[in-house]
Amino acid sequence: MGFHTFDAEQAARLEDAAERYRYCSREELLGMLAPDPAAVVADLGSGTGFYADDVAPHVGTLHAVDVQPAMHDYYRQKSARDERAERGATEPGLPANVDLVAADVGDLPFADDALDGAYGTMTFHEFADDASVAELARVCRPGARLALVDWSAAGAGETGPPLSERYEADDAAAMLAGAGFDVDRADERVETLAVTATR
Ligand SMILES: C[S@@+](CC[C@H](N)C(=O)[O-])C[C@H]1O[C@@H](n2cnc3c(N)ncnc32)[C@H](O)[C@@H]1O
Repeated sequence: MGFHTFDAEQAARLEDAAERYRYCSREELLGMLAPDPAAVVADLGSGTGFYADDVAPHVGTLHAVDVQPAMHDYYRQKSARDERAERGATEPGLPANVDLVAADVGDLPFADDALDGAYGTMTFHEFADDASVAELARVCRPGARLALVDWSAAGAGETGPPLSERYEADDAAAMLAGAGFDVDRADERVETLAVTATR
């Protein structure tokens, strides 16, 4: 695991759409991931499901992975209040193709090559070390696409976790390359990094 884990007591902050889309929009994330409509994809550290709700309509199956069951509880309760409850979801209110997975990214309950893609938003700094990135490589099939957006150590520190807890885009790229990913893009922006890679 990387640095500290997000405080589940602060979950509501992850639902502030104006603030979230300032740093990563739905359009950017889906453009980076470029999923096939039938793809099996994992959201790495899905939190309240803020981005899972954006990605789910564009993939076949979305495994929403989070190490904190309290975050899944928040996602369930949020969704139960939502009109999506009428759409035949497997759990009340969740999109029908979202599967909540309580697991550490470093120890994923998926078979080798199970995933067509994976993404993580503002979470890489929390889960990433060489072992967890190797685990990610194990479950991604050859050709699977990975998209990461996270707070960057090269940012200004205007918001998000302390700079000392973050990686730079080049750090993330080197870790992914070391695990067998081909890195397509590793960009620094104002406050965040954006990295895409292919297994
Ligand atoms: C800052 S929140 C971001 C949540 C979500 N990705 C978003 O952008 O709204 C980080 C999330 O990653 C989860 N997390 C941290 N370390 C993890 C790990 N090793 N495996 C799985 N989830 C992890 C935390 O529980 C938390 O829900």
